[in-house]
Amino acid sequence: MAVLKLYTYPDKILAEVCDEVKKVTNETRRILDDMLETMYADKGVGLAAPQVGIKKRLIVVDDKVGENGEPGPNPRFFINPVIIEKSAETIFFNEGCLSLPGQCAEVERHKKIKVKYLDYNGQEQVLEAEDYLAVILQHETDHLDGVLYIDHLSRLKRNMIIKKLKKQVD
Ligand code: NI
Repeated sequence: MAVLKLYTYPDKILAEVCDEVKKVTNETRRILDDMLETMYADKGVGLAAPQVGIKKRLIVVDDKVGENGEPGPNPRFFINPVIIEKSAETIFFNEGCLSLPGQCAEVERHKKIKVKYLDYNGQEQVLEAEDYLAVILQHETDHLDGVLYIDHLSRLKRNMIIKKLKKQVD
């Protein structure tokens, strides 16, 4: 496994719509393994393939990751995830993103969702998630369509975060 380079805002790969994975192969699994290692190394709870420069519909999630990036008991892999049900009820959650380092903001998300996807072995699965796990899955699935959490904010809040990010780079 390898820790991959993280792409940060405003890299244009973060705004692209990713391609569906046609066939789950050892190469797919290698990318997923590397993504998971990268996520732990950067102390994240979720990571999408475009964040490591790969334009494919792949995400990894670990909602039980430790404070220093220690793996939880149940890391999850999602290939071609699609949210097929969303609750009308929403929750607000303070979200950050490895591609927008050092920033966070309250984002409104569906409280419960149902996700259809292919697992590590290419088998079709459906997962029901709520609260924290549901928030992470919505955030990561958004990445596959070129959407960042700041795109859910008011223009004012979004611009404030972008301004702060630019200052960090200078
Ligand atoms: Ni993110």
